[in-house]
Amino acid sequence: MHKSSVLPYSRDRENDKGRDEVQVTVIGTGYVGLVTAIGLAENGHEVICVDLNAERMEQLTKGIPPITEQGIEEALQANAARMTFTTVYPESDLYLVAVGTPERADGSCDLTAVEAVVAQISRLNPEANVVLKSTVPPGTTERLQQSYPELRFAMVPEFLREGTALADNRAPSRLVIGTRDHMLAERLETLFLTTAPVVQVDPTTAELTKYAANSFLAVKISFINEIARLADAVGADVAEVAHGIGLDPRIGPAFLRAGAGYGGSCFPKDIAALTALAKTYETPLHVIEGADKTNEAQLDYVLQKIRPVKGQRIALLGLAFKPGTDDLRDAPALRLAERLEALGVHITGYDPAAKTLLDQKPTLDEAIAEADAAVIMTEWDEMKQLEPERLQRLMRTPRLIDGRNCWAYADRPHGVEYEGIGRYNQTFTNNQIR
Ligand code: UDX
Repeated sequence: MHKSSVLPYSRDRENDKGRDEVQVTVIGTGYVGLVTAIGLAENGHEVICVDLNAERMEQLTKGIPPITEQGIEEALQANAARMTFTTVYPESDLYLVAVGTPERADGSCDLTAVEAVVAQISRLNPEANVVLKSTVPPGTTERLQQSYPELRFAMVPEFLREGTALADNRAPSRLVIGTRDHMLAERLETLFLTTAPVVQVDPTTAELTKYAANSFLAVKISFINEIARLADAVGADVAEVAHGIGLDPRIGPAFLRAGAGYGGSCFPKDIAALTALAKTYETPLHVIEGADKTNEAQLDYVLQKIRPVKGQRIALLGLAFKPGTDDLRDAPALRLAERLEALGVHITGYDPAAKTLLDQKPTLDEAIAEADAAVIMTEWDEMKQLEPERLQRLMRTPRLIDGRNCWAYADRPHGVEYEGIGRYNQTFTNNQIR
């Protein structure tokens, strides 16, 4: 668990005149449910969290979070008086549904948990307000509304990033409220208490907004990764290209970091669900499907740069799908490990937070010891600051493939055989030190 320097959050109550404090039931205490529940408690509401996992509820009652997230322990403690954790559904007027919607084998979204929760809510209070926070395919909320005409539905997508989820929740870039019920929309605006722009739309538009946001970010990453491959081919520096195009306000600088591609719990799953849905409407999503293909191919590209030989020892530095988390869901490092293992390479791994079944070493030095190549797969500070001297001293051959273009020593003499992604100008070998 990371210790955080963030102080327990407390809203300036003097500035919150005229608000209603209400009781809300949040179903599901995963990432979305728990962070949303904490945010609501911070806004002064009484929050009842329900989850079928009894052990998790016991731990949460003691203030122990089930996920690694910056500042979450402190936030749980600071809001303990307004948060209850239980396995029993209370009768409530307002339910937020934040249960998982995993990927099925065909890529589509499994709505079993959402449907079971809504059925249970309607048994307890047939006229309750039901707010879906879970990511569900466009059309889901309207369909549920037809099945349960007495319930009042809204769909409010989340845009939280792991690692900064609490901060994102406190200062969202926008609040999208998808409902046909104007009273509920007004109530939700008060409930979430934000100064961010509110986008009030119908539920299907809200659902599609969530998928479109994640797909667009994935497209940006795959776009720059393709430009990176071309930069390697023609002898250009993709980081400078990204800088040069990102200064155009129509493009923007975010999500243009080339590297080993994206992973995580959202992008791959949401793209699979959206493309599966689009197929049922015979509306192909060429750009988004292309982003997914490029993302897969990017790992083959990293593999090419590694040039693995059977029997070699290769160190994967960083295993989590991004820094600041121990989350391994769809982590590019694990997908690369599979490819390397199939080639008969011995992999050693190191990550400051994530735990895997690989031959994972407790320190970075042990992971690179006697290795033929090291590959940075997650841009933790420890990888960025890895001194060339350590690579030279500990590795069999000091070779570093930088799958995140993050190594701090890349632009100075280092005596290491180094290669980034699309960074032609920073590709030096031992014999070509500037
Ligand atoms: C994402 C969305 O950002 C968030 O709004 C949504 O609610 C959930 O999905 P998250 O999965 O936490 O959040 O990670 P994010 O920070 O968006 O990064 C996703 C992946 O893209 C990571 O693997 C990261 O390494 C990669 N990435 C990101 C790049 O390769 N290049 C970039 O420029 C940015």
